Amino acid sequence: MDQLDQLVAQAGIDFAAAADGAALETAKARYLGKGGSITELLKGLGKLGADARKAAGAEINKAKTAIEAQLNARRDALQQAALEAQLAAEALDVTLPGRGASTGGLHPVVRTLERVEQLFRSIGFDVAEGPEIETDFYNFTALNTPANHPARSMHDTFYLENGEGVLLRTHTSPVQIRAMQAHVEAYKDRPAMPELRVIAPGRVYRVDSDATHSPMFHQVEGLWVGESVSFADLKGVVADFLRSFFESDDLQVRFRPSFFPFTEPSAEIDVAFMSGALKGRWLEIAGCGMVHPNVLRYGGFDPERYTGFAFGMGPDRLTMLRYGVNDLRLFFEGDLRFLGQFR
Ligand code: PHE
Repeated sequence: MDQLDQLVAQAGIDFAAAADGAALETAKARYLGKGGSITELLKGLGKLGADARKAAGAEINKAKTAIEAQLNARRDALQQAALEAQLAAEALDVTLPGRGASTGGLHPVVRTLERVEQLFRSIGFDVAEGPEIETDFYNFTALNTPANHPARSMHDTFYLENGEGVLLRTHTSPVQIRAMQAHVEAYKDRPAMPELRVIAPGRVYRVDSDATHSPMFHQVEGLWVGESVSFADLKGVVADFLRSFFESDDLQVRFRPSFFPFTEPSAEIDVAFMSGALKGRWLEIAGCGMVHPNVLRYGGFDPERYTGFAFGMGPDRLTMLRYGVNDLRLFFEGDLRFLGQFR
């Protein structure tokens, strides 16, 4: 029966063309559904005589079975393809390198500050703090800096708009005054006052920017006030500190006469390494001196009875020297390619 063979062949073509399960069910309905071709043919059998019906019925059922077989084969193929697509989509490449958890690290300058704190704590210094937004009084006046001193100029100092006498501190020295006042206050009702030994690490600000100056940089202030503190103590403490900090005895320290309004006498501290890339070059790392009597007085100490030394170090410079970095600005640009090297 040609018509049936054609039907089976056409069904095969239709099923093959069905791209998914839904399309296949639609195609199936055309042959095997209620009004489908095979169903219609089977319905028509009733009009035939008994013998013809038997023969035609057998042929139609054969065609029906063939169509069902094609349908099932196509259904299996589509399911298999769907499964393979899903597996491919969810594939896990176990040979890829792991993503890993990236760990953070301390900023190199913070490392230096922690190291400085640790070394000074070990010789009996406390760590003091003061505000970065400071008053003219603490930043200049109480530090014996006269009204016409060049450091007060707008070229060097960031003044806050409308904030009467308020500025970004240009050094950590105002913490000297705050620490002295707090110390005197804390011991005012006690029979005796212990020596004051503090360092004050922190950020300071100046109108300045080049390879060795950033408008924001760090300082560590040091202050030791007592009844017999001398310049010799200053030299010993600083030289010892530098040898510990750089983990080397192979360096020289020199005190070069200088001037600061808040110390008298005053000096700059230079260090020179006896080996390595910087061999023999004197590098300035701090200002220092004996605390000026006026400054002691502003702090609440009697300068007839007490003396003290103070220094202000540049931890950014210490960090550059320790790690061999030649541009200060690199520290504050936040570039992880640079910072990541210090983890
Ligand atoms: N404050 C000074 C500066 O910023 C450094 C210094 C501190 C000098 C303490 C003497 C004593 O340059």
